[in-house]
Amino acid sequence: MSIMDKRGYHYQLAPDLTICRIVNGMWQVAGGHGYIDHKLAIEDMIRYHDAGFTSWDLADIYGPAEDFIGDFRRKLSALKGEEELNKVQALTKWVPQPRIITRSIVDESIQRSLRRMGVSSLDLLQFHWWDYNNPYYMDALKYLSDLRDKGIVKHLGLTNFDTERMQIMVDSDIQIVSNQVQYSIIDRRPEVKMIPFCIKHNISLLAYGSICGGLMSERYLGRTQPPSIADLDTLSLRKYKKMIDAWGGWTLFQELLSTLNRIAQKCNVSIANVATRYILDKAAVAGVIIGARLGISDHISNNALVFNFSLDKSDYNDIEAVCTRSNNLFETIGDCGDEYR
Ligand SMILES: NC(=O)c1ccc[n+]([C@@H]2O[C@H](COP(=O)([O-])OP(=O)(O)OC[C@H]3O[C@@H](n4cnc5c(N)ncnc54)[C@H](OP(=O)(O)O)[C@@H]3O)[C@@H](O)[C@H]2O)c1
Repeated sequence: MSIMDKRGYHYQLAPDLTICRIVNGMWQVAGGHGYIDHKLAIEDMIRYHDAGFTSWDLADIYGPAEDFIGDFRRKLSALKGEEELNKVQALTKWVPQPRIITRSIVDESIQRSLRRMGVSSLDLLQFHWWDYNNPYYMDALKYLSDLRDKGIVKHLGLTNFDTERMQIMVDSDIQIVSNQVQYSIIDRRPEVKMIPFCIKHNISLLAYGSICGGLMSERYLGRTQPPSIADLDTLSLRKYKKMIDAWGGWTLFQELLSTLNRIAQKCNVSIANVATRYILDKAAVAGVIIGARLGISDHISNNALVFNFSLDKSDYNDIEAVCTRSNNLFETIGDCGDEYR
């Protein structure tokens, strides 16, 4: 059965933009996650699409990701007709180096993404800025808003912005539909300031890192701590192992995995499913982005189970009983996105 047939699988991010609540993440094609075979990758993209996973998260800086969307769309159109393309949502990002931002820099960057992706307008453009001390992000947002008003960008989103800067945007009448941030059972920083702000201003969150690169899975249950970060074979695993260390360390993480495993077995799903469901049920969350190592590994049928079950009060209490012994990442790292700055 396609997840298309299941209840609650989609989310209306904007009146004309509905996404699958599990978004396929394409950072994994950018290097550091094993060799990606182009042909196998595009074939896999068709399989994700056929299973109902029609939404993709990518970026101009994710290696060939935007070109893959272009190739995928051409193949999909050839296989099923142009109409089928209406079912695809490709959510890209613009991640410029901080400098003076002019209108022509913005126009050229967006034109490049359009060309690569083979589209006439972008469903959602998520903007990232590395350095708040450089104020030109507000200029960039103004020029992007103009492109949105012309229909070249359908909707404007952000990634890794903190609540303080989003307040500045709201005060300047910049219309934002979403912010993409790290959000998982171990990294609940969005709950401190970001989620109340998003609820108040009707902005949605797209969560990443919710299964910690795959660390939140049976594969790591009962495993001894990797002797060094280099023993983990993807950049994603390394990134979130550091987050686990900051959160409370490997022993506490194993307790969390045991708890998630008990819940997973009770619900007849996987640990990753429980970790995903937990975030999907949070206020303001539109979707969880799960990284796809296209042509290498495949969790399509397992991830579809996320739409088949729900967590109850005792599950939340059991998870909370472990998390309450962790460090407060908002205090040690800061608000959403501060880990990049
Ligand atoms: N805005 C940003 O700054 C930012 C930062 C990071 C990520 N992202 C976005 O978020 C996406 C997700 O990346 P992430 O780093 O957060 O990775 P992730 O989604 O936490 O982990 C992805 C990995 O989890 C494993 N996995 C997936 N489903 C599973 C299942 N059902 N059971 C067991 N394991 C499963 C797979 O590992 P195997 O392949 O090894 O099986 C997969 O490669 C990225 O592609 C990107 O689009 C954005």
